[in-house]
Amino acid sequence: MDLDSYIRALPKAELHLHIEGSLEPEMMFALAQRNGVTLPWDSIEATRAAYDFSDLQSFLDLYYAGAAALIHEQDFHDLAMAYFTRAHADGVVHAELFFDPQTHTERGVAFETVLDGLERACNTAQLRFGISSRLIMCFLRHLSEDAGFDTLEQAQPYLGRIHGVGLDSSEKGHPPSKFMRLFARCRELGLHVVAHAGEEGPPAYIVEALDLLKVERIDHGVRAAEDPALVERLARERIALTVCPLSNVKLCVFDRLQDHNLKQLLDAGIKVTINSDDPAYFGGYIGQNYVETAAALQLSRAELKRIARNSLEASFVSDAERAPWLMRLDTMADD
Ligand code: HPA
Ligand code: ZN
Repeated sequence: MDLDSYIRALPKAELHLHIEGSLEPEMMFALAQRNGVTLPWDSIEATRAAYDFSDLQSFLDLYYAGAAALIHEQDFHDLAMAYFTRAHADGVVHAELFFDPQTHTERGVAFETVLDGLERACNTAQLRFGISSRLIMCFLRHLSEDAGFDTLEQAQPYLGRIHGVGLDSSEKGHPPSKFMRLFARCRELGLHVVAHAGEEGPPAYIVEALDLLKVERIDHGVRAAEDPALVERLARERIALTVCPLSNVKLCVFDRLQDHNLKQLLDAGIKVTINSDDPAYFGGYIGQNYVETAAALQLSRAELKRIARNSLEASFVSDAERAPWLMRLDTMADD
């Protein structure tokens, strides 16, 4: 089996995927037309050409502009179905999808509209592809903690349908400590908790996310490498990092994929996973992230299998749900 086929055959979980970041320009334009929304670009080609980012903020500005095309329940359904179709082709057996309710409710789209559309697609993906999924609601960290509390209140009637919360958007200047009370409340409500940390922000933000927000996984976390004591802690406490290699290159966290520290973190014993983040903007879905990272860092099949195993182990499913995937993974050769 060639490496490409091997990678796609590995049963894997995607744990870091912003569903709004899977909005391809073709769908963005079709939805904008259907909904009478004016986009800041003239054509699909011009949109793609604008995807030349210098940092996280330069991406977020476009990402929020593109999300304005999403209005109706059907739009959120279609968006998520397109994602699941791609994920299935890449061997994803389980996906934990981030969504940003504030990006939509601030534009007058009801919380329920977003949730209904995404959930309907999750149900269809289970039936059609056998992909299980969970929804993780992210708070936008450039907004206030009070705005986050308002969002949590809007989510209250639907918490049985939301598995966890996360923290995304502009990292620098918005440390995890800003959201300590909000995350404490979410934990009290029985929600799983994760946070973006150490993508552009310093290693201290990762420490804050662990100690103050008590997160179960760190999204990105690559800047942990600057703090040897933190690397040792992440390994010891088996905290998974949801690393997104193509995203990191597109947002200039690393100059080239060959310079990425994923293998260094893996070698240090950290539970590293590979994910796509915002695949429509960063040039590849999860399979492409595995394939290109494997080539750039010369990852062995055993290492790729380890990474896929990490993703299954770090997912928020029960051991009973996980067991058949691990059994399937174990049948795959790694030499
Ligand atoms: N980082 C922070 N916020 C985000 C990202 C990201 O990579 N993608 C979508 N929102
Ligand atoms: Zn992200």
